[in-house]
Amino acid sequence: MANKIGQGGFGSVYYAELRGEKAAIKKMDMQASKEFFAELKVLTHVHHLNLVRLIGYCVEDSLFLVYEYIENGNLSQHLRGSGRDPLPWSTRVQIALDSARGLEYIHEHTVPVYIHRDIKSANILIDKNFRGKVADFGLTKLTEAGGKSTPTRLVGTFGYMPPEYARFGDVSSKVDVYAFGVVLYELISAKEAIVRAKDSGAESKGLVALFEDALNQLDPEEDLRKLVDPRLGDDYPLESVRKMARLAKACTHENAQLRPSMRSVVVALMTLTSKTEDWDVGSFYENQALVNLMSAR
Ligand SMILES: Nc1ncnc2c1ncn2[C@@H]1O[C@H](COP(=O)(O)OP(=O)(O)O)[C@@H](O)[C@H]1O
Ligand SMILES: [Mg+2]
Repeated sequence: MANKIGQGGFGSVYYAELRGEKAAIKKMDMQASKEFFAELKVLTHVHHLNLVRLIGYCVEDSLFLVYEYIENGNLSQHLRGSGRDPLPWSTRVQIALDSARGLEYIHEHTVPVYIHRDIKSANILIDKNFRGKVADFGLTKLTEAGGKSTPTRLVGTFGYMPPEYARFGDVSSKVDVYAFGVVLYELISAKEAIVRAKDSGAESKGLVALFEDALNQLDPEEDLRKLVDPRLGDDYPLESVRKMARLAKACTHENAQLRPSMRSVVVALMTLTSKTEDWDVGSFYENQALVNLMSAR
Protein backbone atom coordinates (compact mmCIF):
# COMPACT_ATOMS: atom_id res chain seq x y z
CA MET A 1 0.00 0.00 0.00
CA ALA A 2 1.18 3.50 -0.78
CA ASN A 3 0.60 6.63 1.31
CA LYS A 4 2.00 5.44 4.58
CA ILE A 5 1.35 8.10 7.22
CA GLY A 6 2.34 6.44 10.43
CA GLN A 7 4.23 3.65 12.08
CA GLY A 8 3.61 2.53 15.62
CA GLY A 9 4.26 -0.42 17.85
CA PHE A 10 1.57 -2.67 16.41
CA GLY A 11 1.28 -1.81 12.77
CA SER A 12 1.46 0.72 9.99
CA VAL A 13 -1.09 3.40 9.20
CA TYR A 14 -2.00 4.35 5.63
CA TYR A 15 -4.03 7.12 4.03
CA ALA A 16 -6.89 6.05 1.76
CA GLU A 17 -10.07 7.41 0.23
CA LEU A 18 -13.12 5.23 0.67
CA ARG A 19 -16.22 6.28 -1.26
CA GLY A 20 -14.93 9.83 -1.30
CA GLU A 21 -14.29 9.90 2.43
CA LYS A 22 -10.77 10.37 3.68
CA ALA A 23 -9.68 7.54 5.94
CA ALA A 24 -6.69 6.27 7.88
CA ILE A 25 -6.25 2.50 7.77
CA LYS A 26 -4.22 0.76 10.45
CA LYS A 27 -2.86 -2.57 9.31
CA MET A 28 -1.80 -4.99 12.03
CA ASP A 29 -0.53 -8.51 11.68
CA MET A 30 -2.29 -11.46 13.26
CA GLN A 31 0.13 -11.47 16.20
CA ALA A 32 -1.38 -8.18 17.31
CA SER A 33 -4.91 -9.57 17.46
CA LYS A 34 -5.19 -8.82 21.17
CA GLU A 35 -4.48 -5.15 20.56
CA PHE A 36 -6.74 -5.16 17.49
CA PHE A 37 -9.74 -6.48 19.38
CA ALA A 38 -9.06 -4.23 22.37
CA GLU A 39 -9.11 -1.20 20.10
CA LEU A 40 -12.13 -2.41 18.15
CA LYS A 41 -14.09 -3.02 21.33
CA VAL A 42 -13.41 0.38 22.84
CA LEU A 43 -14.02 2.40 19.70
CA THR A 44 -17.27 0.67 18.82
CA HIS A 45 -18.60 1.42 22.32
CA VAL A 46 -17.22 4.86 22.92
CA HIS A 47 -18.02 8.01 20.95
CA HIS A 48 -16.73 11.44 21.75
CA LEU A 49 -15.60 14.52 19.84
CA ASN A 50 -12.13 14.21 21.37
CA LEU A 51 -11.59 10.54 20.54
CA VAL A 52 -10.64 9.39 17.06
CA ARG A 53 -13.65 7.86 15.30
CA LEU A 54 -13.64 4.29 13.97
CA ILE A 55 -15.41 3.90 10.62
CA GLY A 56 -15.01 0.18 10.14
CA TYR A 57 -12.75 -2.83 10.31
CA CYS A 58 -11.79 -5.87 8.30
CA VAL A 59 -10.23 -9.21 9.15
CA GLU A 60 -8.44 -10.84 6.21
CA ASP A 61 -4.83 -11.98 5.93
CA SER A 62 -4.10 -9.02 8.17
CA LEU A 63 -6.22 -7.04 10.60
CA PHE A 64 -7.44 -3.63 9.50
CA LEU A 65 -8.99 -0.78 11.44
CA VAL A 66 -10.46 2.11 9.46
CA TYR A 67 -10.63 5.54 11.09
CA GLU A 68 -11.74 9.00 10.11
CA TYR A 69 -8.70 10.74 8.69
CA ILE A 70 -7.25 13.40 10.99
CA GLU A 71 -5.60 15.99 8.76
CA ASN A 72 -2.78 17.38 10.84
CA GLY A 73 -0.78 14.43 12.11
CA ASN A 74 0.12 13.84 15.73
CA LEU A 75 1.16 16.21 18.51
CA SER A 76 4.71 14.86 18.70
CA GLN A 77 5.26 15.84 15.05
CA HIS A 78 4.03 19.37 15.75
CA LEU A 79 6.27 19.80 18.77
CA ARG A 80 9.42 18.28 17.34
CA GLY A 81 8.98 17.59 13.63
CA SER A 82 10.61 19.76 11.00
CA GLY A 83 8.64 21.67 8.39
CA ARG A 84 5.79 22.67 10.67
CA ASP A 85 5.05 26.04 12.20
CA PRO A 86 5.34 26.13 15.98
CA LEU A 87 1.99 25.77 17.75
CA PRO A 88 1.00 29.05 19.45
CA TRP A 89 0.53 28.88 23.22
CA SER A 90 -3.26 29.22 23.06
CA THR A 91 -3.43 26.26 20.65
CA ARG A 92 -1.34 24.17 23.05
CA VAL A 93 -3.74 24.94 25.90
CA GLN A 94 -6.70 24.04 23.67
CA ILE A 95 -5.11 20.73 22.62
CA ALA A 96 -4.43 19.94 26.28
CA LEU A 97 -8.06 20.62 27.15
CA ASP A 98 -9.35 18.58 24.20
CA SER A 99 -7.31 15.51 25.05
CA ALA A 100 -8.14 15.88 28.75
CA ARG A 101 -11.84 15.83 27.81
CA GLY A 102 -11.38 12.68 25.72
CA LEU A 103 -9.65 10.99 28.65
CA GLU A 104 -12.16 12.22 31.20
CA TYR A 105 -14.85 10.67 29.04
CA ILE A 106 -13.37 7.15 28.98
CA HIS A 107 -12.45 7.36 32.68
CA GLU A 108 -15.75 8.54 34.02
CA HIS A 109 -18.63 8.53 31.58
CA THR A 110 -18.61 5.21 29.80
CA VAL A 111 -19.94 1.86 30.98
CA PRO A 112 -17.65 0.10 31.62
CA VAL A 113 -14.91 2.68 32.13
CA TYR A 114 -11.54 2.34 30.43
CA ILE A 115 -7.88 3.10 31.05
CA HIS A 116 -5.94 4.02 27.91
CA ARG A 117 -2.45 3.02 29.16
CA ASP A 118 -0.47 4.57 26.31
CA ILE A 119 -1.10 8.30 26.54
CA LYS A 120 1.72 10.23 24.84
CA SER A 121 2.08 13.01 22.29
CA ALA A 122 2.34 10.54 19.37
CA ASN A 123 -1.10 9.21 20.32
CA ILE A 124 -2.80 12.62 20.30
CA LEU A 125 -3.93 13.60 16.81
CA ILE A 126 -4.46 17.17 15.57
CA ASP A 127 -7.39 17.89 13.25
CA LYS A 128 -7.68 20.58 10.58
CA ASN A 129 -8.92 23.10 13.15
CA PHE A 130 -6.01 22.29 15.46
CA ARG A 131 -8.22 20.52 17.96
CA GLY A 132 -6.90 17.42 19.71
CA LYS A 133 -8.20 13.85 19.59
CA VAL A 134 -6.99 10.87 21.58
CA ALA A 135 -6.02 7.88 19.40
CA ASP A 136 -4.49 4.41 19.63
CA PHE A 137 -6.65 2.34 21.95
CA GLY A 138 -4.69 -0.88 21.38
CA LEU A 139 -3.55 -1.19 25.00
CA THR A 140 -6.75 0.05 26.58
CA LYS A 141 -7.96 -1.91 29.55
CA LEU A 142 -11.34 -2.32 31.07
CA THR A 143 -11.34 -1.30 34.68
CA GLU A 144 -12.98 -3.62 37.11
CA ALA A 145 -16.01 -2.54 39.08
CA GLY A 146 -14.92 -0.16 41.81
CA GLY A 147 -11.81 0.79 39.85
CA LYS A 148 -9.53 -1.44 41.87
CA SER A 149 -6.09 -1.78 40.38
CA THR A 150 -4.88 -5.15 39.19
CA PRO A 151 -1.27 -6.08 38.40
CA THR A 152 -0.76 -6.76 34.71
CA ARG A 153 1.90 -7.20 32.09
CA LEU A 154 3.82 -3.99 31.67
CA VAL A 155 2.84 -2.20 28.47
CA GLY A 156 3.05 1.45 27.53
CA THR A 157 5.89 3.82 26.80
CA PHE A 158 8.96 4.50 28.90
CA GLY A 159 9.08 8.07 30.17
CA TYR A 160 5.30 8.19 30.55
CA MET A 161 4.91 5.43 33.16
CA PRO A 162 4.25 6.30 36.80
CA PRO A 163 6.39 4.60 39.47
CA GLU A 164 3.64 2.34 40.85
CA TYR A 165 3.00 0.98 37.37
CA ALA A 166 6.65 0.59 36.35
CA ARG A 167 7.53 -1.12 39.65
CA PHE A 168 4.46 -3.13 40.59
CA GLY A 169 2.29 -3.12 37.49
CA ASP A 170 -0.51 -1.35 39.39
CA VAL A 171 -3.07 -0.15 36.87
CA SER A 172 -5.58 2.56 37.66
CA SER A 173 -6.88 5.60 35.82
CA LYS A 174 -4.05 7.49 37.56
CA VAL A 175 -1.66 5.80 35.10
CA ASP A 176 -3.26 7.93 32.36
CA VAL A 177 -3.26 11.03 34.58
CA TYR A 178 0.51 10.67 35.06
CA ALA A 179 1.14 10.20 31.33
CA PHE A 180 -1.09 13.20 30.61
CA GLY A 181 1.04 15.27 32.99
CA VAL A 182 4.11 14.32 30.94
CA VAL A 183 2.26 15.47 27.78
CA LEU A 184 1.60 18.85 29.49
CA TYR A 185 5.34 19.20 30.13
CA GLU A 186 5.92 18.35 26.45
CA LEU A 187 3.47 21.08 25.39
CA ILE A 188 5.43 23.61 27.44
CA SER A 189 8.93 22.54 26.46
CA ALA A 190 8.62 20.58 23.18
CA LYS A 191 11.13 18.19 24.75
CA GLU A 192 10.79 14.40 24.63
CA ALA A 193 9.56 12.51 27.70
CA ILE A 194 13.10 11.31 28.18
CA VAL A 195 15.61 14.03 27.48
CA ARG A 196 18.77 12.60 26.02
CA ALA A 197 21.99 14.06 27.36
CA LYS A 198 23.98 16.15 24.88
CA ASP A 199 27.36 14.60 25.70
CA SER A 200 27.43 10.83 25.69
CA GLY A 201 28.92 10.60 29.19
CA ALA A 202 26.00 12.24 30.96
CA GLU A 203 22.83 10.37 31.88
CA SER A 204 19.55 11.05 30.14
CA LYS A 205 16.86 12.54 32.32
CA GLY A 206 13.08 12.30 32.48
CA LEU A 207 11.06 15.39 31.69
CA VAL A 208 9.30 15.00 35.05
CA ALA A 209 12.58 15.26 36.98
CA LEU A 210 13.74 18.15 34.81
CA PHE A 211 10.62 20.22 35.59
CA GLU A 212 10.62 19.25 39.23
CA ASP A 213 14.13 20.60 39.66
CA ALA A 214 12.92 23.91 38.24
CA LEU A 215 9.59 24.05 40.08
CA ASN A 216 11.13 23.22 43.44
CA GLN A 217 13.27 26.38 43.38
CA LEU A 218 12.28 29.17 45.72
CA ASP A 219 11.76 31.37 42.69
CA PRO A 220 11.17 29.06 39.73
CA GLU A 221 10.53 31.81 37.16
CA GLU A 222 13.97 31.90 35.57
CA ASP A 223 14.40 28.13 35.39
CA LEU A 224 10.88 27.68 34.09
CA ARG A 225 11.48 30.20 31.30
CA LYS A 226 14.56 28.22 30.28
CA LEU A 227 12.40 25.13 29.84
CA VAL A 228 9.81 26.82 27.61
CA ASP A 229 9.92 25.77 23.93
CA PRO A 230 12.35 28.25 22.29
CA ARG A 231 10.13 28.27 19.20
CA LEU A 232 7.52 30.20 21.23
CA GLY A 233 9.95 33.13 21.55
CA ASP A 234 8.47 35.55 24.07
CA ASP A 235 5.00 34.84 22.79
CA TYR A 236 3.48 33.26 25.87
CA PRO A 237 1.99 34.45 29.16
CA LEU A 238 4.31 33.16 31.86
CA GLU A 239 1.45 32.92 34.36
CA SER A 240 -0.38 30.49 32.09
CA VAL A 241 2.78 28.42 31.55
CA ARG A 242 3.35 28.37 35.29
CA LYS A 243 -0.19 27.14 35.93
CA MET A 244 0.13 24.41 33.35
CA ALA A 245 3.46 23.35 34.86
CA ARG A 246 1.89 23.20 38.33
CA LEU A 247 -0.95 21.12 36.96
CA ALA A 248 1.53 18.79 35.26
CA LYS A 249 3.37 18.46 38.55
CA ALA A 250 0.15 17.46 40.33
CA CYS A 251 -0.62 14.92 37.56
CA THR A 252 2.83 13.36 37.89
CA HIS A 253 2.76 13.18 41.70
CA GLU A 254 4.67 10.15 42.89
CA ASN A 255 1.68 9.07 44.97
CA ALA A 256 -1.10 7.96 42.59
CA GLN A 257 -3.82 8.82 45.09
CA LEU A 258 -2.68 12.43 45.28
CA ARG A 259 -2.92 12.91 41.51
CA PRO A 260 -6.09 14.72 40.41
CA SER A 261 -8.82 12.96 38.44
CA MET A 262 -9.17 13.85 34.75
CA ARG A 263 -12.36 15.66 35.72
CA SER A 264 -10.38 18.05 37.91
CA VAL A 265 -7.74 18.38 35.21
CA VAL A 266 -10.40 19.43 32.70
CA VAL A 267 -11.72 22.07 35.11
CA ALA A 268 -8.21 23.33 35.80
CA LEU A 269 -7.46 23.62 32.08
CA MET A 270 -10.76 25.42 31.51
CA THR A 271 -9.53 28.20 33.77
CA LEU A 272 -6.52 28.53 31.45
CA THR A 273 -8.65 28.88 28.31
CA SER A 274 -11.29 31.05 29.95
CA LYS A 275 -10.96 34.78 29.49
CA THR A 276 -12.54 35.43 32.88
CA GLU A 277 -9.58 35.89 35.16
CA ASP A 278 -11.14 35.26 38.52
CA TRP A 279 -13.85 32.79 37.72
CA ASP A 280 -14.49 30.85 40.90
CA VAL A 281 -13.94 27.19 40.20
CA GLY A 282 -13.16 26.17 43.77
CA SER A 283 -16.40 24.27 44.14
CA PHE A 284 -15.54 21.95 41.25
CA TYR A 285 -12.39 20.64 42.79
CA GLU A 286 -12.38 17.46 44.76
CA ASN A 287 -9.29 18.45 46.65
CA GLN A 288 -8.25 21.74 48.09
CA ALA A 289 -4.63 21.20 47.16
CA LEU A 290 -5.44 21.61 43.48
CA VAL A 291 -7.38 24.82 44.13
CA ASN A 292 -4.37 26.30 45.88
CA LEU A 293 -2.12 25.08 43.13
CA MET A 294 -4.06 26.79 40.36
CA SER A 295 -4.71 30.03 42.22
CA ALA A 296 -1.28 30.52 43.78
CA ARG A 297 0.64 33.48 42.41
N1 LIG B 1 -6.99 8.54 12.05
C1 LIG B 1 -5.77 8.97 11.75
N2 LIG B 1 -5.60 10.03 10.94
C2 LIG B 1 -4.36 10.47 10.62
N3 LIG B 1 -3.21 9.92 11.07
C3 LIG B 1 -3.30 8.84 11.88
C4 LIG B 1 -4.58 8.31 12.26
N4 LIG B 1 -4.37 7.27 13.09
C5 LIG B 1 -3.04 7.16 13.21
N5 LIG B 1 -2.38 8.08 12.50
C6 LIG B 1 -0.91 8.24 12.42
O1 LIG B 1 -0.27 6.99 12.59
C7 LIG B 1 0.50 6.95 13.80
C8 LIG B 1 0.37 5.58 14.48
O2 LIG B 1 -1.00 5.32 14.78
P1 LIG B 1 -1.44 4.60 16.15
O3 LIG B 1 -2.93 4.44 16.15
O4 LIG B 1 -0.84 5.34 17.29
O5 LIG B 1 -0.78 3.16 15.96
P2 LIG B 1 0.26 2.32 16.83
O6 LIG B 1 -0.53 1.42 17.72
O7 LIG B 1 0.98 1.53 15.79
O8 LIG B 1 1.11 3.29 17.59
C9 LIG B 1 -0.04 8.11 14.64
O9 LIG B 1 0.93 8.63 15.53
C10 LIG B 1 -0.43 9.13 13.56
O10 LIG B 1 0.70 9.88 13.16
MG1 LIG C 1 0.61 4.94 18.73
